[in-house]
Amino acid sequence: MSNYKVKNLNLAEKGRLLIEWASRHMPVLNQIKARFEKEKPLEDLKIGACLHVTKETAVLVETLHAGGADVALCGSNPLSTQDEVAAALAKSGVKVYAWRNETTEEYYWCVNKVIDEEPMITLDDGADLVSTIHSTRNEALRNIIGGTEETTTGVIRLRALAKEGRLKYPIIAVNDAYTKYLFDNRYGTGQSTIDGILRATSILLAGKNFVVCGYGWCGRGIALRAKGMGAKVIVTEVNPLRALEAVMEGFQVMPLEEAAEIGDIFITATGNLHVIRKEHMLKMKDGAIVGNSGHFNVEINIPDLEEISVSKRSVRPNLEEYLLNNGRRIYLLAEGRLVNLASAEGHPSEVMDMSFSNQALCVEYMAKKPSLEPQVYPVPSEIDEMVARLKLKGLGIKIDEMTEEQKSYLLSWEAGTT
Ligand SMILES: NC(=O)c1ccc[n+]([C@@H]2O[C@H](COP(=O)([O-])OP(=O)(O)OC[C@H]3O[C@@H](n4cnc5c(N)ncnc54)[C@H](O)[C@@H]3O)[C@@H](O)[C@H]2O)c1
Repeated sequence: MSNYKVKNLNLAEKGRLLIEWASRHMPVLNQIKARFEKEKPLEDLKIGACLHVTKETAVLVETLHAGGADVALCGSNPLSTQDEVAAALAKSGVKVYAWRNETTEEYYWCVNKVIDEEPMITLDDGADLVSTIHSTRNEALRNIIGGTEETTTGVIRLRALAKEGRLKYPIIAVNDAYTKYLFDNRYGTGQSTIDGILRATSILLAGKNFVVCGYGWCGRGIALRAKGMGAKVIVTEVNPLRALEAVMEGFQVMPLEEAAEIGDIFITATGNLHVIRKEHMLKMKDGAIVGNSGHFNVEINIPDLEEISVSKRSVRPNLEEYLLNNGRRIYLLAEGRLVNLASAEGHPSEVMDMSFSNQALCVEYMAKKPSLEPQVYPVPSEIDEMVARLKLKGLGIKIDEMTEEQKSYLLSWEAGTT
């Protein structure tokens, strides 16, 4: 029995080139890898990872492997696996179970194959691995000392599990590190979402009405980059503070009911359910393009879209045309799955360098602290700061240091108006 299942092992050479390219742009992770190679802090550790199988994830897996860990990997989305990368990893001996376009059944088969490897630390992106272990694979809990979670939606799920008192092992919320969400969610999602839209549609963004649903960290990045391409950005929100921020940033803010009538492109990044529904779709212009960059494919109500459509056809890779019963057409990007991963290559390597350096260092931290209580923990601030420092160093950028006088000034209460 082979300990992998990928689409085509012959793609390995192409995948190796992709991994090399990513690695060249991930200097922080490479420094960690070099240290791991010497110190072997993960010796004899079995790691189970459920992450988007991209070229950057491969660099993370090889870093963990350099530290002495044995890694089993599955994808964290049925449509995000880069088959070339999966092949290269399989060829180099990683236990990888992932291919692009898995059915839901196949997706969970892969998740279960990773659990079969009896991981001691879990790495998740969206919490499907943790939730499977907590629901149907309880026996795996006996080996597990801890885990990490990569994304906002996963952290929300884990906090809900912890709140019910049912989380069985400690998990570090990598998403919540400053060196993660301020860069990955904002600039990573911003750039790669635009990349995904353009690869799928090849349209001009300048002058288009571009509707961003959700002005969180991802939404900000998407709005910022769409504006930079000359689009007229409209933001929809449910949180008054975030809506106000969008207003002050110079964006139009309005309810989706209103935006639906004028938008040319709609992108959701809310982490919420059924944000774009039938009542909105029926108001959209002929030719409106709709996509999602949030974690799950539930932000656009696709059953609603099917219900109000008379036919559908695939017009380009990652682009489905729905003919509505009102005679108009809506174009759905990448089946409503994260458009930046399904239709492009996910975040640029430079950004994943920081996210995955946090992952690697948090795994090391977990391995050293196997007796943490089962809770959701923040990334230790020293790790967050170290990643920022190393990243700046890698970019060749120096910053100032406080003088002793300044340090004591900031610690005092006596000095006031002079
Ligand atoms: N595509 C990617 O590569 C990628 C990367 C990082 C995060 N994510 C995912 O993107 C989603 C958003 O992440 P984030 O970090 O920006 O979260 P966030 O919590 O910072 O932002 C979400 C925003 O959506 C708003 N919102 C919620 N329901 C809404 C509704 N019905 N209409 C309009 N706005 C609504 C919230 O008020 C909030 O401001 C999550 O699912 C996360 O896991 C995707």
